[in-house]
Amino acid sequence: MPKYIILGKQPLAGEIDIKGAKNSVLKIIPVAILSTQKIKITNIPEIEDTEKSLSLIESLGGIVTRDGNTATIDTSKINNTELKSDLAKKFRASIMFVGPILARFGEVKFSHPGGCVIGAGSRPIDLFIEGFEALGAKVEYNEDEGFYHIQAEKLIGCDYFFSTISVTGTEALMMTAVLAKGKTTLKNCAMEPEIEALANYLNSCGAKISGAGTPIITIEGVDKISAGEFEVIPDRIEAGSIAILAAATNSEIRINKCNPDHIESLLNIFDKIGIKYEKGADWIQMKKTDKFLAYGIKTHEYPGFPTDLQSPYTVFMTQAQGSSLIHETIYDRRLFYVDMLSQMGADITICDPHRVVVNGPTKLYAKKLISPDLRAGMAMIIAGLIAEGETEIDNIYQIDRGYEKIDERLNKLGAKIQKVD
Ligand code: EPU
Repeated sequence: MPKYIILGKQPLAGEIDIKGAKNSVLKIIPVAILSTQKIKITNIPEIEDTEKSLSLIESLGGIVTRDGNTATIDTSKINNTELKSDLAKKFRASIMFVGPILARFGEVKFSHPGGCVIGAGSRPIDLFIEGFEALGAKVEYNEDEGFYHIQAEKLIGCDYFFSTISVTGTEALMMTAVLAKGKTTLKNCAMEPEIEALANYLNSCGAKISGAGTPIITIEGVDKISAGEFEVIPDRIEAGSIAILAAATNSEIRINKCNPDHIESLLNIFDKIGIKYEKGADWIQMKKTDKFLAYGIKTHEYPGFPTDLQSPYTVFMTQAQGSSLIHETIYDRRLFYVDMLSQMGADITICDPHRVVVNGPTKLYAKKLISPDLRAGMAMIIAGLIAEGETEIDNIYQIDRGYEKIDERLNKLGAKIQKVD
């Protein structure tokens, strides 16, 4: 299994381009199924999850033409409504295929999707199931085989209230309702920028969606939609992670091709704790700051502080002056990695499964680490860059799932990260 070996304390400087957002492209690929026309997607990040999603399209009978960061998808010949369970089980976002297949073909079979091990149980899909039922679908579950079979001759517009705010849940029901008969109103929706980008694309193809980016989304069903071109929006989590990395390592790094508005919750904290930076419409210039204050966070749905930046931020706080309370509210199992930071010398007190207190600043020392999930993996890279000595990170498959060639890109800034088998 490949691992990263990071030699810490190297001076970092220079420019880095942010790639297309994983959590945007993973929704736009399945949306290709809603139309029989070809869709062209540009600015695709070259990461594991994207490859799996495109393979899933091919396993259904779709044709994918790839040229670097661009892909054209033709789903006109799809004749299969069963998601290959071995492939679908490997990534959580395979759940995004269910709605479009159901909406176009009237039935879909799939097994419970996998992905990062961070949520309750095995990351529930109850909201999706409940939503499909609200749209008039009949759901059967084969417990022995762990297989769902969902059918609906014609989906019917409905009113649906999300009892828990869910990003993929909002996206799934929004895209499924596009081809339903009549009006659907979704309430207590997630408001992430990826949702608005998806709605804008669907509207450009003839869908009638309003309110995306607010808690109430309405969709007037249409008989069919066309397809067009979609440029994947910049990855706000990658941009935020690099901004944190620069701040934590006291480095002058210019972050290009990003949208600073999408990480306002982080930049707002930088302003409060004394981290210096400048920003423009699509760039952030991080400035050297050798001393900054501790500041607590409570993760929240957008536009609040993203759970996906919680672990990089916790590493950052080990270098801050004072104590900060880190409160993870979205997932049940997303703070377990702090044990590894403590082994590196961080002063962290675990209050309960959702809260830790970080006391800084502390010196970090290199250790052998295992990346438990994608975002904690990025946090470990940052810790490795700060630490004295050679840090080894195992299970980097989890990191490559979401960050394109992160070792090579950070090495261009002066990092010394080696990928070894
Ligand atoms: N939830 C349910 N039932 C459901 C769905 C979700 O109880 O049917 C719960 C979850 O267990 C969680 C909460 O609702 O406690 C919110 O989760 P949400 O559904 O919003 O998460 P998601 O849509 O599965 C997306 C991103 C995650 C990101 C979260 C929160 C994608 C593919 N994934 O997940 O990204 O953490 O929103 O912003 O868009 C990552 O990129 O590392 C990642 C995990």
